[in-house]
Amino acid sequence: MTIVPHSLESRSGSFIDNMRLPVHRWFRFSAGFSAQWVESLLSEHAPLNDKVVLDPFAGSGTTLLASDVVSVRSIGVEAHPFLVKIARAKLWWWISVEEFLDAAFKVLNTAKQLLKTGQERESYPDLIMRTISLQNLSKLDALKKAWETHHDLSPSSHLVWLAITSIIRQSSFSGTAQWQYVLPKKRKKTVLDPLEAYMRQIEMMSQDMRQMQFLVNGTSKAILYHSDARSFPEVRTNSVHIVVTSPPYANNFDYADALRLEMSFWGEVRSWGELHEAVRKYLIVSSSQHASREKLILDQLLSSELLNPIKGEISEVCKRLAEERLRHGGRKHYHTMIAAYFIDMARVWRELRRVCSTPCDLYFVIGDSAPYGVYVPVHRWLKKLALSSGFDIAEYRKLRDRNVKWKNRKHRVPLQEGILHIKG
Ligand SMILES: C[S@@+](CC[C@H](N)C(=O)[O-])C[C@H]1O[C@@H](n2cnc3c(N)ncnc32)[C@H](O)[C@@H]1O
Repeated sequence: MTIVPHSLESRSGSFIDNMRLPVHRWFRFSAGFSAQWVESLLSEHAPLNDKVVLDPFAGSGTTLLASDVVSVRSIGVEAHPFLVKIARAKLWWWISVEEFLDAAFKVLNTAKQLLKTGQERESYPDLIMRTISLQNLSKLDALKKAWETHHDLSPSSHLVWLAITSIIRQSSFSGTAQWQYVLPKKRKKTVLDPLEAYMRQIEMMSQDMRQMQFLVNGTSKAILYHSDARSFPEVRTNSVHIVVTSPPYANNFDYADALRLEMSFWGEVRSWGELHEAVRKYLIVSSSQHASREKLILDQLLSSELLNPIKGEISEVCKRLAEERLRHGGRKHYHTMIAAYFIDMARVWRELRRVCSTPCDLYFVIGDSAPYGVYVPVHRWLKKLALSSGFDIAEYRKLRDRNVKWKNRKHRVPLQEGILHIKG
């Protein structure tokens, strides 16, 4: 059954299209996926009135907002504290636009006053000092202080917080890597003035709120928990009917680092080192930094009964990675990263089996990986782990090839992205 239009499905793994969609575009999170694909997938499951949708890796909230658009109840789980704040703010799209504008202009006027009186700027972490000009930093600092003065825990305050958060990168002169990393040495051409960027953002947000309120009746039907996809007791047993998600890939992308600029600005971390305690240690192990900081031991990981369905294959791959590591200067901990990743994902399947009703449909957008050029058949192993957790059917559909066009690719192993559809 392929009712989802092919063009939408083939773009399901991409966030780019969301930058044209109301509310989704309030914060650019490149690790997100296509909202229109989610909407179209959910519409296939109509009638939706009694159904509950879950995204156990909610990120910036794409599935939850798409669920709001098609008027279905949804639940999100996200472990990154800063992403939880971003997604929660977006879910306030339904509040009074006037209230939001009022709060936004109060902050702007106070910021202008602070700039006039030349109030002293607070001290910022090194990353901020190296990536934002002093002139722009003074303006961002004034907006931050003004926000702190008026913040009253109201939904409008959260939206204003998001408006300021969204303009930090636009006001910085440093470039950003393919996904989200900030590259202090790479200069970009367009740097916006923070006060102008703030005005633009406020205008865009208020327009989007009006548009969403016109499209969707009532309030958001989404609940987002700051919790862990491996165990989220907040969600009742047998209460979920559809899961649409994209887990971290086992490809060394560091979600903790992805929002370091924004977290550093708000004083939530002062250095790269602090990211582990503040964020990374709560996430699925999907980067070598994570595996090395946790000092994981391969034999211990491989003895986990959670890996039983793939034991032989994964042991061989991890041992090859352990050997390969000795041939590379960086000595990356991919061997323990891969073992720990699949233990974590086995826990996720177990928890999903608990919360999902029978029947249920689960859609995972996933990509495979090849650290040090050693191929890891992610979709095949995730399929086996899902079936051994008690789900009945697992089908994988390839959507697109990856690693075919990067000029500086580190290996030539063909990779792909696809959708794993599980039924239970
Ligand atoms: C591929 S992204 C999902 C992006 C999301 N679809 C969106 O549109 O923004 C994977 C997400 O999983 C989150 N994550 C990692 N470990 C987690 C865990 N143990 N529990 C819940 N979320 C986790 C990451 O912080 C990241 O936001």
